[in-house]
Amino acid sequence: MIPFDKLGWAFHRFGGMIYNQEIRDSLCNFLQPLPENAALLDVGSGTGILCRFASECRDGLVFDAIDPAEGMMRYAPSFVTCHRGRAEALSFEDDSFDGVMMGETLHHIADVDRAIDEIRRVLKPGGRLFIYDFNPKKMMGKLIQKGEMLLGEPGNFFSPDAIAAKLHDAGFETAIVQTGYKYTLHAILR
Ligand SMILES: C[S@@+](CC[C@H](N)C(=O)[O-])C[C@H]1O[C@@H](n2cnc3c(N)ncnc32)[C@H](O)[C@@H]1O
Repeated sequence: MIPFDKLGWAFHRFGGMIYNQEIRDSLCNFLQPLPENAALLDVGSGTGILCRFASECRDGLVFDAIDPAEGMMRYAPSFVTCHRGRAEALSFEDDSFDGVMMGETLHHIADVDRAIDEIRRVLKPGGRLFIYDFNPKKMMGKLIQKGEMLLGEPGNFFSPDAIAAKLHDAGFETAIVQTGYKYTLHAILR
């Protein structure tokens, strides 16, 4: 397994470099339709990079973050409320959030179906989901998948089409925004 608990400093220092401008633009566009003072949850937040980028797109957002690794969340910005936990068991009431974000987290989740159920539960009707992850159908995505599986990670990488189909079955409308080995997807809970 990747020792995320000990890698907070590295993600804090270098993690932002992985987020290219296209991903950040996709995140900003995702945030635009949200209401004033929207409540956002960053699942598998690590050091809260997505919260930081989101706060640079829009003022007035309210951030919660959840991650099993306290050593990552220690570096989260002070405006983020951090919770220790996993995507498969989100410690929030039903209909709590206007938006959920996941950056490079989906493929680390052992039970993706359970996590999607949980995300659907905590989202308000019409709530929005942002996913950024690696596409295993592209050479670089496949290499990352193989490398992570060698390290004992779940390696639950989905192509954008495959995760869109899964989300559709779970009651979301989806749009694949950015393609390539790094992809972004926006989904709306019907
Ligand atoms: C590659 S890091 C990405 C962190 C952050 N989202 C970013 O973009 O820098 C993956 C994160 O997923 C977390 N993680 C692993 N398993 C998880 C699970 N079942 N539920 C939620 N988060 C998980 C790890 O602790 C780690 O912080």
